[in-house]
Amino acid sequence: MAILEIIEAPDPRLSTKCQPVERFDGALARLLDDMLATMYRAPGIGLAAPQVGVLQRLFVVDLGPEDERAPLVVINPEIVTRSSAISSAEEGCLSLPKQYADVVRAEAVTIRFQGRQGELQELTADGLLARCLQHEIDHLDGVLFVDRISALKRTMIMRRMAKARRERLRSPA
Ligand code: NI
Repeated sequence: MAILEIIEAPDPRLSTKCQPVERFDGALARLLDDMLATMYRAPGIGLAAPQVGVLQRLFVVDLGPEDERAPLVVINPEIVTRSSAISSAEEGCLSLPKQYADVVRAEAVTIRFQGRQGELQELTADGLLARCLQHEIDHLDGVLFVDRISALKRTMIMRRMAKARRERLRSPA
């Protein structure tokens, strides 16, 4: 398995609407395994394909403890229902390292999607998993969590990202 490079904002690939997955083949299986390895290494609880430069509608999630992994592979997801109840909680993103903000989302969602082999699945989630699913589905539509917060907070975060990037360029690790 390969560790893939995670793209950081701002990058046009993170703002692009992704295309549906059509081929459930060996290349897809390899991509999913590489994305899981990359997510665990980061470490993170979710990783969407555009974050590794693949503009296709799929992501991986794992909310299990480190010693009890429970990978969830989600391909071509659709939100079927979302609760009218909303909640606000802090989010981060591997494409915006060390940046966090409170984001308002539906408390619960039901999604329909395909698994590794293209099999149709449905999942109802609330709490952290519901938040995570909405965050990752947003990625597939070119939306980052900073697009769902106030312009002022977004500007602050993007300035910090630009500063961190400048510092990295000045003193490459
Ligand atoms: Ni993210």
